[in-house]
Amino acid sequence: MSFNVAIDGPAGAGKSTIAKQVARKMNLIYVDTGAMYRAIGLYFIRENISPDETDRIEEVCRKADVTIRYEKGEQIVCLNGENVNAWLRTEEVSRMSSRISVFPEVRAKLRQLQCRLAADEDVIMDGRDIGTCVLPDADVKIYLTASVEVRAKRRYEELQAKGTECSLEEIMKEIADRDHRDMTREESPLRQAEDAVLVDTSDMGIEEVAAEIIRICGEKRGWK
Ligand code: DC
Repeated sequence: MSFNVAIDGPAGAGKSTIAKQVARKMNLIYVDTGAMYRAIGLYFIRENISPDETDRIEEVCRKADVTIRYEKGEQIVCLNGENVNAWLRTEEVSRMSSRISVFPEVRAKLRQLQCRLAADEDVIMDGRDIGTCVLPDADVKIYLTASVEVRAKRRYEELQAKGTECSLEEIMKEIADRDHRDMTREESPLRQAEDAVLVDTSDMGIEEVAAEIIRICGEKRGWK
């Protein structure tokens, strides 16, 4: 049986940074499910398909083939055979991935891929519905969150460090909009699973959060 850790939470809570650290220290494979939704979002953008064209969702699911492979521990997302990692982190793709993630057909397609990965390997998987829908029997479930203000400030500082012009107010609005969409959609909305441990990272450093999660995982795995 594989060992599975589920990490859910809103955008900017630090899920991927923390999950990567925990993966390294506990020898787990890090699965970033947001990147899979981003790849489908990218397909909509490239093909000039609007999420309002709901009659084309089935066609998108048929034509957009998303696969995952790992190179030196890094997750590579391929869209119809092309490594698209470099195209997934724009604000346009963030917005589109959140919009297209409401479609049950898209969710079912990606859930299948996620379940297969978790069945075969020891994984730490992050997303919005991992503990509630994708891996309801995960060994450890964490709900990682932080205030909108703190999450927006982290994103702002990240963009500034890259030399990208941005406004804190706009980022705050983008994050609040995305939270709202992700939490209120009908199909597997973002929410804390009943058996998930809540970790609020507003006043915690990365090391501290990672250490806490490793402690929880270690206990479950029978490590002392
Ligand atoms: O984690 P992220 O910001 O890369 O995710 C991008 C979008 O994908 C997010 O706004 C909602 C969607 N998503 C989802 O609906 N379910 C997941 N398990 C992961 C992401």
